[in-house]
Amino acid sequence: MAGKRKNSFAFCGGAFGDEGKGRVVDKFVEDFSQSKAVVVYRDNGGANAGHTLELKNGHRIALHQLPSGVFAKKATVVLGKGMVLHPGDLKSEIEEVETVLGAKIKAKILIDEMAALSLDTHRAFEAVLKTWHDGGKGATGRGIAPAYADILLRHPLRMRDLLVFDKKKIEDHYLLYEALIAGLGQKLETVLVPTLAGEKIVVGTKKEFVTRLEKQKEKLIPYISEVYQFLQKSWRDEKYAFVFEKAQGVGLDWRYGVYPDVTASDTTLRAIFPSTEGIIDPQEIEVRAGVIKATYMSTVGTRKLPTMMEEELASRIREDAQEYGATTRRPRGIAYLDLAALKFFSQAGFFNCLVLTHMDIVYPNAPIKICTGYELNGKEVSYRPDQEFLNQLTPKYIELPSWDKQALGKAKKRQDLPSQAKDFLDFISQEMNLPILMITSGPKREQGILFKKKC
Ligand code: IMP
Repeated sequence: MAGKRKNSFAFCGGAFGDEGKGRVVDKFVEDFSQSKAVVVYRDNGGANAGHTLELKNGHRIALHQLPSGVFAKKATVVLGKGMVLHPGDLKSEIEEVETVLGAKIKAKILIDEMAALSLDTHRAFEAVLKTWHDGGKGATGRGIAPAYADILLRHPLRMRDLLVFDKKKIEDHYLLYEALIAGLGQKLETVLVPTLAGEKIVVGTKKEFVTRLEKQKEKLIPYISEVYQFLQKSWRDEKYAFVFEKAQGVGLDWRYGVYPDVTASDTTLRAIFPSTEGIIDPQEIEVRAGVIKATYMSTVGTRKLPTMMEEELASRIREDAQEYGATTRRPRGIAYLDLAALKFFSQAGFFNCLVLTHMDIVYPNAPIKICTGYELNGKEVSYRPDQEFLNQLTPKYIELPSWDKQALGKAKKRQDLPSQAKDFLDFISQEMNLPILMITSGPKREQGILFKKKC
């Protein structure tokens, strides 16, 4: 077993994304950046992710591809090899951050030259595929799966192709997707694809596509580099703190999630190893936190969880916790906490502790219903990553008492929490066999309690 690297924290969605990782990452990045240089590293996903930040100047901004540390002075934010990046959206996102700051970004941005491109061609292919049988239903439309598929098929365009700007290679990419889409009976040139701002544009002709990309790359060129050299140096230098920010959640992983409505990236902490080309072994990361919502689960897409809630309570939670997608504004489905699935995700995700968010989503006299396992034909069964299997299950529930929200809000340390909240946390920790690093009890920065400094 490798030794632990001091001041290294990783945060990973322990359920279906949108657990509130972003604000937890923000807190750690800001705390570290008071005294240290901090590296914020993202290794998976692309423009399908999204979290809204409230800045000190009152502005709100949704980040999609940029890691959270982009607002911290002493941060280096890394968009790693494992990501799939949309150059147009990334350019707009950087410009939006500059506008909100009213100045140049102080954090250093490093885009790994090996990160794959996720382009309008991919978005078009995904859009067309949706009209063909059941192909790709539920996807965010950001072209994530086709971009990862290009890597497996060994013909991706990467960030370094933008640097060199080999027109022929980019034109060949367009021609491939033109042929694929023609095979499905449509014309690439006229397919509408979403942009960061939410409007739709047509992909356009090959020439228009290449020209657009050529303009977009200008903004990104200063940030593209061979990230491995920086990582090799900084990971061994204790002057730097490291915060790893995952996107999505293990329940969306293409091998461990509720297949087929899964994303295409590796959403576990193990993905840090390949993304950093073996420089960072996740075993060495001191804190590997799985972030989950404390009292319920949310899901966006077409997957049907065994523990979906009745609509009356679900709609109340949806409004109270603002459960609408940050990227697509889709209302999220709400389900009871499913320990059988969460345990599986925790093992697959490689967690050594938990962060529980949304502790304030409780209602007086309404116990918290928790699924502790499932039955199939009278026999106990475990979670399996397969929608068809999960459709057949009958969940078994227990109920735990809820707590007083006001008392929770006033607590500054674990001992001050209402006894029901303490019992609840002990129960989750015992069931999941993991200690709890921190909890949050509202959207503001100060609405959180740190239980431990490391796991
Ligand atoms: P894709 O990542 O766009 O391919 O979408 C695949 C599935 O993952 C869809 O059901 C999406 O709704 C879901 N998904 C992707 N990213 C997120 C996220 O950040 N939060 C929640 N769900 C997501």
